[in-house]
Amino acid sequence: MKQNKVFKSIFVKLVLIYISISIISFIALGSVFYYFSGDFIYSEKKSMITGSIDGVVSVLQSTYNRNLSTVFPLVNAYIQRTADSLGAMIVIADKDGNIYPSLIKSGIKDSSLSSTVISKFLRGSSGVLKFPDQKQINVIGSDGGTYSEIGNFYDLFSDTGFSWLTVANEFSINNVPEGNVYVFLPVPDLDAGRVKILQIFSLCALGIALLATITIYFVSRRITRPIKSMRVAAQEVVAGKFDKRVEIISGDEIGELSDSFNQMIDSLENLENMRREFISNVSHEIRTPMTSISGFVEGILDGTIPSERQEYYLQIVKNESVRLNKMLNDLLELVSIESGKEIFEAKDFDICEICKRAIVMFEKPIVEKNIRINATYEYESIIARADSDSIQRVIMNLIQNAIKFSQSGSPIEIKVYYDSHKMVCVSIKDHGKGMSRDDMKYIWDRFYKADKSRIRDDAGTGLGLAIVKNIIDSQGLKIDVNSSVGSGTEFIICINNGEE
Ligand SMILES: Nc1ncnc2c1ncn2[C@@H]1O[C@H](COP(=O)(O)OP(=O)(O)OP(=O)(O)O)[C@@H](O)[C@H]1O
Ligand SMILES: [Mg+2]
Repeated sequence: MKQNKVFKSIFVKLVLIYISISIISFIALGSVFYYFSGDFIYSEKKSMITGSIDGVVSVLQSTYNRNLSTVFPLVNAYIQRTADSLGAMIVIADKDGNIYPSLIKSGIKDSSLSSTVISKFLRGSSGVLKFPDQKQINVIGSDGGTYSEIGNFYDLFSDTGFSWLTVANEFSINNVPEGNVYVFLPVPDLDAGRVKILQIFSLCALGIALLATITIYFVSRRITRPIKSMRVAAQEVVAGKFDKRVEIISGDEIGELSDSFNQMIDSLENLENMRREFISNVSHEIRTPMTSISGFVEGILDGTIPSERQEYYLQIVKNESVRLNKMLNDLLELVSIESGKEIFEAKDFDICEICKRAIVMFEKPIVEKNIRINATYEYESIIARADSDSIQRVIMNLIQNAIKFSQSGSPIEIKVYYDSHKMVCVSIKDHGKGMSRDDMKYIWDRFYKADKSRIRDDAGTGLGLAIVKNIIDSQGLKIDVNSSVGSGTEFIICINNGEE
């Protein structure tokens, strides 16, 4: 349940992170755009107004009669048109700041704004208006450049509640300054354009964010779904069940992880099966001798077995306990090699010597079975490099098998030689019963015995070759087997040449 929440939160986290990133980037982008577009729009508008003022000035120059109170109707109409097209208020004042009301033209949509501004002008005799502040009159410096500002133009716009863009320019007749042309534009009107663009931008951003959120929702689900099913499968494994696998829905890292996860379950299942099989094999192998030991001992104790037969049965009891002991030792050895506890130390040694020693150890069964050992050594002494003790165990196991699975009187050939790659090889070849192809697949498995009905006396436990294989693999060596039913078996091990 707790984990479920975590998975949910991974999903929620992904979506939240995405949404936050989008919001932050949209805000940043919007602000940058709004800020820079402001400057751009102001300068564009300013140059447009300056151009318009130039137009007004040239019209004034062409018709000017040194008396602003009488301006031709044509000029009137031109200035009004200019004001309308700018959406601004145009005021023409003489050099003392006097403004004839007929020379105030407003193109501002909200006409009350113009009235508010006009009410700020001083009212002189015969209806002539005047700028209330001398600074408003003297805006043009001695260089005659265009004046522009954003603000309340020395208190003129303070009653309107917002800033205005003011652009003013002087007009002269025959290079004699005659007065100023002022253009006033409310900043909110100026901003309207970019507010509109910002609105469109926000709408687009919202649409994109919505689309992306839906996409990220499905993408996140695609990511978390396999993780979720991995959790379910993992819980099943914890409960000892191995039948769940994760569905692989993509070829990306998550897909690879799912695949590895499935492989992990496969190998865990394999391991668990091996463990179960191992335990059942061990208990089976132990139970049989234990039952006969306790049965015979009981028979001797309660007199069921007559005294003249007791020695015979005690011999069986002894053999069984020896076999049990051997099995336990083999098992311990196998576990020790598999767990990596047994350390193999590669050293140079004479492999001919090892073979000779091994053959001597089997003298008794060799004589008993009347077996001829033909040992040939390519050189008197051949130096190999590996862990000599474990190699001796391997050779002994192979010789023991060769003797065990040979009929009385049949020969065994042992050959020590260099192969074409200069590896030191030992071949142990018998002419015994041999093995079928099927048996050869399983001989390296623990407890595998081809002939399950083998008589008890020489019955092994099927651990010998498992130990051999482990020793060989642990040292990166090679073992081959050739066998055919009825004609015999050959095991060949190859070891690094010690003299290199
Ligand atoms: N030389 C051989 N000829 C025929 N069959 C063999 C030979 N060597 C091994 N096998 C087959 O492989 C099986 C496994 O061999 P392995 O040495 O592991 O067990 P084992 O000899 O039966 O018992 P253990 O070695 O534990 O005493 C044998 O039971 C036998 O069937
Ligand atoms: Mg064996």
